[in-house]
Amino acid sequence: MNLAIRVEKSRAEEAIALAEKLGIRDRRRRIVSRGDYVEIPVTGTGAEAGNVTEVIKDLRRVLEDEFELVEQESPVYARPRTLEEALAGKLPGSLMKKIPKTYKVLGDVILVKIPDEFSDYAEVIGKALLELNPHCRSVWWDRGKRGMLRKPDVVLIAGEGGETTHREGGCVYKFDVSKVMFSPGNQAERIRMGRIVRRGEVVVDMFAGIGYFTIPMAKKAKVYAIEINPDSYHYLLENIRLNDVESVIPILGDSMYVTPEGVADRVVMGHVSCHEFLPVAVRALKGKGWLHYHESVPEQIIERPVRRVISAVRAEGRDVRIEGVRKVKNYSPGVVHVVVDAYVF
Ligand SMILES: C[S@@+](CC[C@H](N)C(=O)[O-])C[C@H]1O[C@@H](n2cnc3c(N)ncnc32)[C@H](O)[C@@H]1O
Repeated sequence: MNLAIRVEKSRAEEAIALAEKLGIRDRRRRIVSRGDYVEIPVTGTGAEAGNVTEVIKDLRRVLEDEFELVEQESPVYARPRTLEEALAGKLPGSLMKKIPKTYKVLGDVILVKIPDEFSDYAEVIGKALLELNPHCRSVWWDRGKRGMLRKPDVVLIAGEGGETTHREGGCVYKFDVSKVMFSPGNQAERIRMGRIVRRGEVVVDMFAGIGYFTIPMAKKAKVYAIEINPDSYHYLLENIRLNDVESVIPILGDSMYVTPEGVADRVVMGHVSCHEFLPVAVRALKGKGWLHYHESVPEQIIERPVRRVISAVRAEGRDVRIEGVRKVKNYSPGVVHVVVDAYVF
């Protein structure tokens, strides 16, 4: 039942005001103009909703014969603007208040974190997100990352396909969200790495993934990019090609064993749990140079990453100056992802 008030254009404002005042304006449909008339979509007043004859009778009564009530032949539906609007009437009221507030759009793929209590409605949420983002072709339920390879734990809930091309900071990243991770929260750090690297430097990226840091840095530097996961390595090669950065030396393997020694001005350790690799990173430096060491750390022991860097560097017979500790993002409740900038000499 697509009821609307049909009124001459000159009286449209008056009719809209009345519909608003009576609380019967139906915002799921757009006001449309047909010749000299407009149609203002309305709903029932509430009490009789469901019974068409009653609704019409009730509306005729509240409109007091002032305006004509019609059934729209070709309604135009308004696109919802928020996830809440898109889900209106599709979820139990108790869940409506807890709808996810944010989601990530990576190229044409969406990742959304959904609390378990919504699991019966995951598909409904997926479809609503596609409706809100018509340029996207799939929605994945993001249930976290697994293990040292940080493999995504995701479930397809709407549309199809996981491969996407995401643009950020002048770089192009192609990857498959069902096979490799991509953290939008690390964006500022990826851009910073591209900025601080100096032209002509040699960099070792010990956990290169699909080229998160390698690609922005390779615009100025020669980068040894080491990655252990063949899926990520496949996209690393693809991204080297897409970004046209010839100065990258990709290495498929475990950085504990394949990191070149004595070559780097700068070493990036972009894994949140890699303190055991610190001695290898120090040995990768060709003399004095920089370490960018990442760690996820509980806030109560926030000094732990700095302590780990200092003791690992000293154990290698070198000294170190801590030039900065930056928060990359909140990692989980009470745990932060930080990066330590350390100058080894
Ligand atoms: C967490 S991701 C990097 C995330 C990235 N820093 C960002 O900005 O989103 C870490 C990468 O390190 C890789 N990796 C884990 N252990 C490794 C190892 N021993 N050697 C080389 N790569 C490794 C994983 O496969 C993954 O691609």
